[in-house]
Amino acid sequence: MVFAIGPYQLKNPFILAPMAGVSEMTFRVIALQMGAALAPTELISSKGIFFKNRRTLQYLTYDKDIEIPYSVQLFGGDVEVMAHAAHAAWQHGAHMVDINMGCPVKKVTKTGSGSALMMDPKRAAEMIRAMREATEDKVPITAKIRSGWDHDNVNFVDMAQHMERAGVAAVAMHARTRAQAYRGQADWSLIKELKQAVDIPVIGNGDVLTPGDAYAMLEQTGCDGVMIGRGALGNPWIFRALHEGAKNVEVTPQERMQLIRHHFNAHLRFHLELDAQVAQAGQSATNRKRHGKTITPELHAIRTFRQHLIWYSRGFRGGSAFRQQVLQMETHAEVLDAIQLFFADAAPSHLVQNEDVEGVNYKQAFG
Ligand SMILES: Cc1cc2nc3c(=O)[nH]c(=O)nc-3n(C[C@H](O)[C@H](O)[C@H](O)COP(=O)(O)O)c2cc1C
Repeated sequence: MVFAIGPYQLKNPFILAPMAGVSEMTFRVIALQMGAALAPTELISSKGIFFKNRRTLQYLTYDKDIEIPYSVQLFGGDVEVMAHAAHAAWQHGAHMVDINMGCPVKKVTKTGSGSALMMDPKRAAEMIRAMREATEDKVPITAKIRSGWDHDNVNFVDMAQHMERAGVAAVAMHARTRAQAYRGQADWSLIKELKQAVDIPVIGNGDVLTPGDAYAMLEQTGCDGVMIGRGALGNPWIFRALHEGAKNVEVTPQERMQLIRHHFNAHLRFHLELDAQVAQAGQSATNRKRHGKTITPELHAIRTFRQHLIWYSRGFRGGSAFRQQVLQMETHAEVLDAIQLFFADAAPSHLVQNEDVEGVNYKQAFG
């Protein structure tokens, strides 16, 4: 039986993890069309919403036809600001609001946000109550936690029980402490412990790189949902395999090439639109400068797509030469040609899931 979050019944248990710089509208829509049941936004600053920062507000852009339900992940340490932001997200169309309680980055934790909330279950619970009130209980409030702050403070059960009493609708847990960052293996036995300790949907997260891993997590932990982050980078097809109950991710070269082209074109459109809106509001210059070179909106959008091309090329022969080439490309036409040339010839293969995965840098995603 597939679970529900508040009134929203999910079509399967498989969820794209929120990832800064990745879970923008374009990639969320691709994951959902492939079969993901839910794809929350990347973390969005509650303060940015509070102060009506144009760029932050643009990040609330979503596809009304496909993103159902649409979940907005907020971060912030101030209860009132978070309540205000939840209200604004609701007014903007959010069907649910998720609180980031796992981000390990100092810039975030030093303001009492992200994983710093793990050290203060009472404030986390107070935040949930305030956000429920601000949204008149019409929007399920969910939370994404880690197992604790560090080895000496593995407090996820206490944390989740505080939040359950405050009315949280579901909890997702990345089964590592903040101090562990991405080292070692996620400890799935903690997900099982969490599931047994609370009476709300539990979503397991950490080190699900293949469909087999996802089925194993469901079976071993009894969790209701499985959240997939790095395993979906360059591999949104994983959700199709999962939705169909398949063991392997099967993609033809033609299909891969077409999806990457589509992703690139949509990514470019999204970023050019975002930049135009921000420029119109007069909140930042359209052209950025770096090392004396003007970075046009198009070049900026191309640069932000490079990481996707690097992920898409994982596990293919000639991938490392392609990745070198990707770093030099500066125009729309150049990128489209390179995609066509490289991926049209890529022999059908099951993606090598773990190559380069360690190289993913969460910190980098914050720029
Ligand atoms: C590039 C990147 C960006 C991330 N950004 C966020 C974020 O915005 N919000 C969040 O809750 N977690 C974020 N995470 C953590 C993931 O959601 C997830 O918890 C983590 O990657 C573990 O899952 P995985 O093993 O499936 O990758 C990020 C992870 C990565 C790799």
